[in-house]
Amino acid sequence: MRALILAVGLGGLIPAGPLAAQDPPGDPQAGRQVANMCRTCHGLDGYAQVPIAPHIGGEPATYLSAQLRAFRSGEREHEMMSVVAKNLTDEQIANVAAWYASHTATAVLPDGFDAAAAPTLCSDCHGADGIAVVADAPHLAGENRVYLETQLNAFRTGQRTHDIMTPIATELTDGELREVADWFASIELEIAGP
Ligand code: HEC
Ligand code: HEC
Repeated sequence: MRALILAVGLGGLIPAGPLAAQDPPGDPQAGRQVANMCRTCHGLDGYAQVPIAPHIGGEPATYLSAQLRAFRSGEREHEMMSVVAKNLTDEQIANVAAWYASHTATAVLPDGFDAAAAPTLCSDCHGADGIAVVADAPHLAGENRVYLETQLNAFRTGQRTHDIMTPIATELTDGELREVADWFASIELEIAGP
């Protein structure tokens, strides 16, 4: 995904530094095998099968591999994902990220929703319809409300840290946090295979 972005010319905005070096292009077909370990929770196509797991199909490979490495190192913690990620090799991470990233996520705003009413504080990166418009940001469309609130609270408390999301989440009031989670959770997500 990163290589693709560099190729289409946004490269000037994304320095090809050490991060790029950690992201060798994965093999989606080999990743499909790895995804057998993930499917009970995330589905083989990345459409979550259980309410606490996020949809990951069609997410940028850079985002997916960064999160898997964070779970593996303990930088991000979760009772299920920490166990899953602990034994993944760099190659498995690159491959499974490539597999899920090879899908396409499409969002549909429900009736009565107007894209103009999307929270602008979020839509610059996550899109009005929750399909991310910047390379390193995840889609939020159709994620479970509880998942979104949990992650925003994790950024607030420092349990999860990110140079952009930590200050954004910290400045939200409780009411705003519920409102923005509500917006993205209400959107319908579809995931199409490669
Ligand atoms: C037993 C259920 C389960 C299995 C199996 C599982 N996951 Fe997860 N996964 C979760 C849950 C729950 C979360 C949310 C963690 C949190 O709340 O921080 C998650 C989060 C993630 C995230 C972060 C997504 C985001 O939007 O930030 C990624 C990436 C991920 N899983 C990939 C995988 C991959 C790849 C596998 C297989 C190798 C896998 N998971 C196996 C339950 C599971
Ligand atoms: C300038 C870009 C930017 C803006 C604006 C922004 N985000 Fe993010 N967001 C990101 C990036 C990048 C990540 C990935 C963080 C990481 O790697 O851990 C992220 C991650 C998240 C996550 C975690 C999703 C997951 O799947 O685990 C949530 C939830 C989130 N953002 C919600 C919001 C909300 C709500 C707003 C508006 C109030 C917002 N973001 C505004 C860039 C942005």
